[in-house]
Amino acid sequence: MTLSGKRILLIIGGGIAAYKSLDLIRRLRERGASVRCVMTAAATEFVTPLSAGALTADRVFTDLFDREEEHDVGHIRLAREADLILVAPATADLMAKLANGLANDLASAVLLASRVPVLMAPAMNPAMWSHPATRRNLATLMKDGINFIGPDRGEMAESGEAGEGRMAEPPAIAAAAEAMLDGGHKPLAGRRIVMTSGPTHEPIDPVRYIANRSSGKQGHAIAAALARLGAEVTLVSGPVSIPDPAGVKTVKVETAREMLAAVEDALPADCAIMVAAVADWRVDGEHDHKIKKTPGQAAPSLAMVENPDILAAVGHHAKRPELVIGFAAETRDVVDNARAKLKKKGADLIVANDVSHDSGVGDRGVMGGDRNLVRIVSPKGVDEWPELTKQEVAGRLAALVAERLATIVV
Ligand code: C5P
Repeated sequence: MTLSGKRILLIIGGGIAAYKSLDLIRRLRERGASVRCVMTAAATEFVTPLSAGALTADRVFTDLFDREEEHDVGHIRLAREADLILVAPATADLMAKLANGLANDLASAVLLASRVPVLMAPAMNPAMWSHPATRRNLATLMKDGINFIGPDRGEMAESGEAGEGRMAEPPAIAAAAEAMLDGGHKPLAGRRIVMTSGPTHEPIDPVRYIANRSSGKQGHAIAAALARLGAEVTLVSGPVSIPDPAGVKTVKVETAREMLAAVEDALPADCAIMVAAVADWRVDGEHDHKIKKTPGQAAPSLAMVENPDILAAVGHHAKRPELVIGFAAETRDVVDNARAKLKKKGADLIVANDVSHDSGVGDRGVMGGDRNLVRIVSPKGVDEWPELTKQEVAGRLAALVAERLATIVV
């Protein structure tokens, strides 16, 4: 009963996937949650409030302007009397409304009035999902802290069209709800994990530096996911513009050398996950003063020197953690390169992602985008994950770390 005592408000949007939400209610209740339902007017065209009410064993709420409903419970109370609001299916319309703060029906008013975590399970036609308007709304909602599960790739129920847009399956949605509500499950309690995330900045002179496109989104999401599972996480982060993850000790650094020193300071640890896009080279002999442009003189040339490899240093360290995980952003020969890296860097697992511009993930590829397509490469083989949000990759990786560490006796 992992959701025992948890109150979930399920908002059912108007899409064919609404029929799956009836199964979702059953699965949430099986795990001990109490479920209350709000249905949009469109949702009632697909499933009846009677069915939803029979499954929740509660009243179903449909109308913002129903005097009786507003008098008895009211949209503000509906929003507040929940530990989690789950929107399934989250239609393009519901996403657009919340992204823009519209509140012209009960479902959107409840979402706008809520102060509790929100999980959306989008479902729509692939063309609607990939439309720039929906992508914009998705980015806004993610920035606002809304969590997402799915959509999956597959055949659409209504048109038979294939593509991304099918609602995640009820068991996966229930598992995501569990992860968000913790469910008291802390398999990483007592485990120390050191991580790196973001880019490094390598100074040229006091005003200029060499950097890269890493946003820190993936590394920070992993740190947060590990903390939710109870781990004591030290996150050594290069300069990023995203907030520090909740429940994590964040150490801020700029250069690769500072990053290495902070990582070594955090040892011993049970696990190290090196996600940072560390600059391979730094400028040899950083200038103490700003390099001046002198008319008539040739452009300066910069001599470069190799930076320490932090992952390799940890992988071969006297205080090597039991589990060492690296990332490999590649633009070609992804798996072969990852395999070579396992050995060279002394890692147990490499999370390999294709950051080539034609990988079709994110707005500008993986770096800076919100989605990721990864393969987990170990000496035993390759596990290919579907295209997921960075949050989902983080959740899965945290679960994998918990599984691997559970087999290692402290
Ligand atoms: O060799 P490459 O840069 O592709 O390796 C990527 C992996 O190594 C990532 O896990 C990255 O965080 C780590 N790395 C590091 N220090 C470096 C270069 C890469 O920790 N100087």
